[in-house]
Amino acid sequence: MKPKSLLVEYMLKYKLGYIFGITFLVITNLGQMYIPKITGELTDGLTYGTLDLAGVQRITLIFIAIACTIFIGRICWRIGLIKTSRKIERDLREILFSKYLRLDVTYFNAHKTGELMAYAINDIGAVKQMTGMGIVLLYDAFILSGMVIYNMFQEVNIELTLITLIPMSLIAITGIFVRKVIRTRFIVKQKAFAQLTDIVQESFSGIKVIKAFVREKYHIEEFEKQTQRNFDANISVFKVMAIMQPAMGLLVGASMLIAIGYGGYLTIIETITVGDFVTFNGYIWLLVWPMAAIGQAINVYTQGSAAIKRLEEVMEVPEIVQDHEEDIVDESELIEDGSISIKDFTFNFPDNDKVGLKNINLEVEDGTTLAILGRTGSGKSTLVNILLRFYNVDQDKIHLGGTDIMKLRLRTVRHSIAYVPQDNYLFSASVKDNIGFGLNKFTTEQIEEAAKRANVHNNIINFQDQYDTMVGEKGTMLSGGQKQRISIARALVLKAPILILDDSLSAVDTHTEETILANLKAIRANKTNIIIAHRISTVRQADKIIVLDKGQIAEEGTHESLLAKQGLYYEMYEQQKLEGRKANKKPKFKVNIDGDGEYGLGSGVERGPYREK
Ligand SMILES: Nc1ncnc2c1ncn2[C@@H]1O[C@H](COP(=O)(O)OP(=O)(O)O)[C@@H](O)[C@H]1O
Ligand SMILES: [Mg+2]
Repeated sequence: MKPKSLLVEYMLKYKLGYIFGITFLVITNLGQMYIPKITGELTDGLTYGTLDLAGVQRITLIFIAIACTIFIGRICWRIGLIKTSRKIERDLREILFSKYLRLDVTYFNAHKTGELMAYAINDIGAVKQMTGMGIVLLYDAFILSGMVIYNMFQEVNIELTLITLIPMSLIAITGIFVRKVIRTRFIVKQKAFAQLTDIVQESFSGIKVIKAFVREKYHIEEFEKQTQRNFDANISVFKVMAIMQPAMGLLVGASMLIAIGYGGYLTIIETITVGDFVTFNGYIWLLVWPMAAIGQAINVYTQGSAAIKRLEEVMEVPEIVQDHEEDIVDESELIEDGSISIKDFTFNFPDNDKVGLKNINLEVEDGTTLAILGRTGSGKSTLVNILLRFYNVDQDKIHLGGTDIMKLRLRTVRHSIAYVPQDNYLFSASVKDNIGFGLNKFTTEQIEEAAKRANVHNNIINFQDQYDTMVGEKGTMLSGGQKQRISIARALVLKAPILILDDSLSAVDTHTEETILANLKAIRANKTNIIIAHRISTVRQADKIIVLDKGQIAEEGTHESLLAKQGLYYEMYEQQKLEGRKANKKPKFKVNIDGDGEYGLGSGVERGPYREK
């Protein structure tokens, strides 16, 4: 839905707030407008001696009543209008955020966090201004000034009113030109703010790299440059207002001059009474604010509409990866079994058409373990991203549990796959909440059980607050291996038909790896597992091993058959054996992929998780 229509929708949703606010705005203004009239009456009464003491008392009481009305009126319109605009701000932010979360992962490759945050903060702030104070300004600029001018015509003198209004009419004309200038400058201001947010966000995310490379000075300089740009952009908007506001004051002053000069003349020649003169000048004073409001209203509306336009652009970004209702054939929460079938599948990245995967044919039977090996950049994570359906694929290419992945709901696909990402991500929450992240229905026992299986329970119980320990942003308070194992626990607690570990044992030592693999064997014996790894020791027990190379399956088989082939797998094996021997010379770091050392993978016996079924 477009934000423009959304804006209308929300303004209608909160129409009661607007009706309430505007009603009190009118009441306040009627009260204000009564003051010049009654001042005129008082003046005439005193000048021409038509007013007695009782009359003065009556007028005083009226003044008090008006003052009270204005006081209460002002409070009420503020509550009505400003509170409503805050509600719209809140709602728009919620809509925008949920739109962000629905957008494809590809969108986030091209749009930086700072930019997205700027939309959510600055642009929605401008919309809030427009729907709150903007309404008051519009009302003042047009309705209030209209009411005052009408009264001037009605109550005093047509000729005097017309002449007085000449300078003021210039304000409206200049406003039209100024609008364009403000718009252009505001767009520059929006961009500058987005870039500033970006620098801040990236600097904090990369704080360790910045410090390690001693780049603080450079980043501070970059930040200073950007704050200067932001400052300049703000000033350029401000300059327009700085000139426009006093200029309007000048024009209002000219009107006042005419009111005094020509009005005084009309009073002397007795075309109008002294009271009329006083009333008229009172009205002119009442016009000062609405005239100034025209300038501000132009500013607020120009910025607000530019912001709306940007929000509109975000809201209109198509969500390409989503459920195709007409194709859905299976509404179940999980797929039936964990089998995976890929046929003649080629994949190009949608953002740049670069080839990601080529001619993939792969069958993974339910309850078996597939291992994927390959150099970095060979397409292993890409394959996982496809299985998680972060991208759309052609129909009849990929089947999960016997059903075309394109005919399953995204929810079903993703619920069915417990996934440990390569760049494991923890949220700034407690250990417990990070493990129970997938669903909030897990019991403490289930969470602890998963942590034990991931071999991280013993670490956690040594943390200060154990499972309630806060892990810091992105888990900064934990070691790489602890983060990895907590990510594994988060996947294990789900008990999904398919488990994918994307290079998830890289930061743990071989002994821990062995324990985790043994645990996996116990709890995931009849479920499908995909293990991406670099170490042969991690994958040798798998039912099937594929070696990816440049997006293609270069080799496929079991540990033994691949060794016999003497291809890529064999090369890796030999190389790692060599590295293992070198490492073994230093007694502290025993790495032995052959499985005959202290920390090896099982002395030739099937101690790994995957061979026996
Ligand atoms: N969005 C993208 N657009 C273009 N190329 C990409 C994109 N994402 C990843 N790649 C490239 O695809 C290749 C495979 O990446 P990946 O699957 O992450 O490799 P790995 O086997 O190390 O997990 C790499 O060369 C990477 O640079
Ligand atoms: Mg990868």
